[in-house]
Amino acid sequence: MPSIKVAILGFGTVGEGIYRILNERKEEIQQETGHTIDVVSILVRDTSKVRLSTPGTTVTDNIQDILSNADIDVVFEAIVGEEPAYTYLSDAIEKGCHIITANKTMFAKHGPALLKHAEFRGVKVCYEATTAGGVPIIRTIKGLLPADRVQRVRGILNGTSNFILTKMREEKVSFEVALQEAQALGYAEADPTDDIGGKDAFRKLMILSALAFGKQPDWKDVPVVGIDSVTIEDVKAASENTCRYRHIADISIDENGVLQGSVGPVLIGTDHPLYGVDGVDNAIIVDTDHLGALTLIGPGAGMYPTASAMVSDLLQVIGKRTATFATN
Ligand code: NAP
Ligand code: HSE
Repeated sequence: MPSIKVAILGFGTVGEGIYRILNERKEEIQQETGHTIDVVSILVRDTSKVRLSTPGTTVTDNIQDILSNADIDVVFEAIVGEEPAYTYLSDAIEKGCHIITANKTMFAKHGPALLKHAEFRGVKVCYEATTAGGVPIIRTIKGLLPADRVQRVRGILNGTSNFILTKMREEKVSFEVALQEAQALGYAEADPTDDIGGKDAFRKLMILSALAFGKQPDWKDVPVVGIDSVTIEDVKAASENTCRYRHIADISIDENGVLQGSVGPVLIGTDHPLYGVDGVDNAIIVDTDHLGALTLIGPGAGMYPTASAMVSDLLQVIGKRTATFATN
């Protein structure tokens, strides 16, 4: 059976999840695609850390070990921050690899350039996991276009924030305790500043804006507020009035093509479609001219939901058994 050789950049919560799913679903993937998937190399920062055993796979801290391997077809990227991720992925595209990324910090800024570069090189860039974890929002919006015109996208785009707000309301725990739990569960970033400060949701909103509207607003024109401004007293007072705080990212386009975005905590009542979305779940409402309003809800962070989105991306790149694997 032909084999597809992949590398995984980053072996933390998400990278390890990709490896686990590829192993757990080995036979099903072979049946579906007619290919075996071989994880050839894993890139980490610190090779001395104790990790899940990955027999037959090289674990390296040198990206050149991966970029110089002409056999690698697909690069999964699950490292942290804009750089060196952007450079690594640009180099991988240049070498003719398909890329699949979860890195929204990098993709919000460099996604358009990577997509252009990949089109020129005849390879694919998949980024489902950058936005709303396991919720297939990228695929859904792509599927709607161009038959539908998107007018507005809004929703809960940060799992950590929603988890913390839910814990504060349901269990009356402090912000700090709830954040520690989100970190232990692998929802929060290693540095959670951007989760609780709203920047993480903002970046996801910019990724959705580029996809849905073909452009992003000037970043400095979008007000960004985090849930770090919400106290346990605020949450309690809201509950007493049958209201809830939700951290909502919202972007819309007017008839002149002008984008209007905002990110921040919003107090909502029982009649709001996001009222019942609790825990680590994300929810996105997409308003379009023909379909109307479509809502997607599901796990917005964590090892398996995120890695599942990335493995689904891989399956899309490979195609079904009858189709041909799209190498360049
Ligand atoms: P993580 O647990 O902190 O793991 C990051 C991994 O990347 C580690 O294995 C680390 O190596 C490696 N790494 C970081 N910088 C590197 C560098 N410069 N060179 C080589 N390796 C490097 O992070 P994560 O939660 O898996 O998240 C990974 C990416 O996915 C991030 O961009 C994150 O925003 C995104 N994401 C996360 C989730 C989630 O639920 N966690 C969901 C969607 C998207 P060491 O192990 O040696 O330190
Ligand atoms: N830290 C992010 C969140 C991970 O909590 O939503 C998913 O992107």
